[in-house]
Amino acid sequence: MRKIKLIGIGAGNPDYITVQAINALREVDVVFVTDKGEDTADLLRARTHICERYMQAKPYRIIEIQDPLRDRNPAEYRSAVAVWHEQRAALYERAIRERLSADECGAFLVWGDPSLYDSTLRIIDQVAALGTVAFEWEIIPGITSIQALAARHRISLNEIGEPIHVTTGRRLIDEQPAGGTSVLVLLDGNCAFKTFADRDIDIYWGAYLGTPDEILLAGRLDEMSGRIEEVRARARNQKGWIMDTYLLRKRGAPSC
Ligand SMILES: C[S@@+](CC[C@H](N)C(=O)[O-])C[C@H]1O[C@@H](n2cnc3c(N)ncnc32)[C@H](O)[C@@H]1O
Repeated sequence: MRKIKLIGIGAGNPDYITVQAINALREVDVVFVTDKGEDTADLLRARTHICERYMQAKPYRIIEIQDPLRDRNPAEYRSAVAVWHEQRAALYERAIRERLSADECGAFLVWGDPSLYDSTLRIIDQVAALGTVAFEWEIIPGITSIQALAARHRISLNEIGEPIHVTTGRRLIDEQPAGGTSVLVLLDGNCAFKTFADRDIDIYWGAYLGTPDEILLAGRLDEMSGRIEEVRARARNQKGWIMDTYLLRKRGAPSC
């Protein structure tokens, strides 16, 4: 039976990779590399580096899967993503059926952890449901950008006994942080934190976490908002891309 491994490789620092991931990589015959059009040369290089470093035990093949083009600003976000996932499932199914032999092990190297804002897991689920190619599959967890952010700022994700809310920049606009709750924001291309220039909110911001270009900024949101926006824009212009994550926390007692 074919085997597929979704391997979380950590979000930035090559040393974030776990021993379980290293052991899994040693079994792999084929690495499927997908190009979503959003991965930069730097991120592709990070994956290649991991293969070269940990997959010396036996020969392996790298097979590229070209992702279908995606409308970045569709009128109907959910249905557009569903269509995109269906198209990707068809491509992944074909690659697994045609490029991986029945006794081989294939891997998808997923940035950070496969369970957090990454569609690879859902696509593989869809491929399995098609029933056209049989395979066993497993997930190897990785260190997320959220964990990297907390470690680099030396903070806990939650206040004592309080909840954590994980969201995207797109959704943050409608979600005023409640007292005590920590709000973690990923995938924010528009500095959505600007919506809350609240003196009682603290922000812990990190870009390119775990990499040599890492930037960390923290403080009161009303004081830091403009500075972060400026630093972010400059870094993005210089490198041509940016990945940033932040935590917002309203000081004071919980609202209920
Ligand atoms: C498609 S999501 C993938 C998240 C990933 N699966 C994880 O476990 O962190 C991409 C978003 O993760 C965040 N991210 C990933 N790596 C990061 C890094 N090294 N530094 C800062 N943010 C990062 C950014 O918010 C980015 O827009």
